[in-house]
Formats: sequence, C-alpha cells, structure tokens
Amino acid sequence: MFDSALDAVGNTPLVLLKRLSTGLPARVAIKLEYFSPGGSIKDRPALATLEAAESAGLLRPGQYVVEKTSGNMGGGLAWACAVKGLKFIAVLSAGNTPERSQMIRAFGAQVVVVPQARGGKLGEVSREDLELVEIRTCELVKRYKAFRPDQFNNPASVSAHQSGTGQEIWRQTKGKVTHFVSFVGSSGTLIGTATALKAHNPKIQCFAAEPQSAQFLAGKRVQNTSHPIQGGGYALRPGIYDERVVNGSLPVSGREAIAGARELACREGIMGGYSSGANVAAALKLARKAKRGSLIVTVCCDTGLKYLSTGLYE
Ligand SMILES: Cc1ncc(COP(=O)(O)O)c(C=O)c1O
Repeated sequence: MFDSALDAVGNTPLVLLKRLSTGLPARVAIKLEYFSPGGSIKDRPALATLEAAESAGLLRPGQYVVEKTSGNMGGGLAWACAVKGLKFIAVLSAGNTPERSQMIRAFGAQVVVVPQARGGKLGEVSREDLELVEIRTCELVKRYKAFRPDQFNNPASVSAHQSGTGQEIWRQTKGKVTHFVSFVGSSGTLIGTATALKAHNPKIQCFAAEPQSAQFLAGKRVQNTSHPIQGGGYALRPGIYDERVVNGSLPVSGREAIAGARELACREGIMGGYSSGANVAAALKLARKAKRGSLIVTVCCDTGLKYLSTGLYE
C-alpha cells in the first residue's frame, strides 16, 4: 500500500505488440504510461522537477507553480501539486484538446488558455502557437513570483527518465532491448531513456520520431509545424536535448500517427493518443529494417480518452 498517489508513479507495464509485428524480423514492445496516476508519461518529470526544486530551496509551501504545457506536463504537475498542496497554473494553447484542460482543473489547478496564432486549428499546436504560450507563461511567472519547472530546459526532467523509464526498460527486457524510439516534445523521454540505456549498452540505437513536415532535429527544412501529433514536433531544439545519445530521426506523418493509434487500439487493445500512434509507426519502420531478433521499445505516452473530441477514433 502506497503512502500517497505520488509513490504510484513509474513501474509501468511493458507489452509486446505481437499482432502488429507479425512477420517482421524484429519484435516491438510498448510501455504503457497511461497507467501513471496523472495519466501520462509526464508525471515522471512533473514530480522530479518539483522535488528537485524543493530540495534546492527554490519551491516553498504556498508558492505558485506556473508551466507552459501541451497538457500532459500540466496534468502531471496538477496531480503532484494536488497532493503537495501547491497552487498550480497551467498555460496551454487553445489548439490542445479540451480534455486536457478539464483534467488539470479536476486536480484543482487553474488553466490559462492562450488563443492560437492566425490560422491555427483545434488539435494542432504550431511553433508559433507555442511562442504565444511562452509569452503568457513569462508574464504569469513574474506576476505570481512563481516557480517554473521549465520542462524544456530542466535537467530534472531528463534524470526522471534516466533513473525511471530507462532503468525499467533495461530490467523489463532483461537487457535485450536493441532500439528505443520516442516522439520528441521537451525530449526528456528520449534523452533520459537513451542516456540510461546507452550506459548499460552503448550499442543500443536511440531515435527521435518527428513530424514528417517538421524534421527539425534531423536538420531537414521545416515545411509546416502544424500537425495533429500533440505534445511535440515543435521544430525546436530543447535545452535538454543531447545529440550524443541520439542515433537519428524518423519521420512520421499525421496520417501514419493516426493509423498507428487505431491499429494499436483495434489489434493490441491499447488505446493511446496521437504521439503514441506516431511512436508505434516509427517503431514499426525500424522493425521492418532491423536485424532478426532485435527488440524495439517505445512508449504509449497517454490515453486516447484525451483525444476523443478530435475524432481520432471515429
Ligand atoms: C502526448 C505527448 N506525447 C509525447 C510527449 C513528448 O514527451 P517529451 O516531452 O518527453 O519529449 C509529450 C510531452 O508533453 C506529450 O504530451
């Protein structure tokens, strides 16, 4: 029996995608992060950034916490702040689905929704939209003298995955993992997990998944940062990004991400969001070309229930 919901973070199940990888030379496995109490992979960095700040004396009881988020970091922070009794304001783009704001409010936090840049679409958050969210976040941090976890630049969001996600994958695969792939938002999942896995075995290949139209980390020309894969693909280099642990970038189109999510739900019984679909599509691309016997691991970042309003599963 855990002392609080905060202790229930991590140790999520890893599941083989046997049906989706039938006939391929490699096996694919996915880590189910929606099992976390705040509902996503971002619970890990949310808790880690708050606890690092508490230890460093940067976050005191009663202080405000303010963060720019696509919703999942906000959900994770709202969940952790609820238990810790901290006041939290999440700053989101209007392009993110309403389910995310509703979930953050359910945990007792406030949500500030920033209108999208001209031409923005619900369900798509572009780099320009994110820039507007950044401006509003800075204003609120100043106004409330708030602590800002700053997920794109805070090393604690990397260490959460290094000591958590990466070690768990190593243990759960008994050291047999050969590849890891993750869709990039703040890049905490990719960099933290890759750092841990490569420390165990430097031969493990780690890949970023990026929207086809915005393969920025691959050094390709960015055509369009508007795409349906919420939670990342902003065509920017996060401060915590570390190319030394990344072997390459795989493009995934919005259509492939949607097909990946639907196949994952219909054939494997795992209902994730768009980025989980992108991760499955990227992992299957690797699996088609990998050496026989390879084991490719990826993550199901959150639940498809957060995207019902977009028609992902219609
Ligand atoms: C749905 C979803 N997928 C993927 C990611 C990317 O994770 P990371 O920030 O660790 O790169 C996020 C980040 O917020 C997310 O919300």
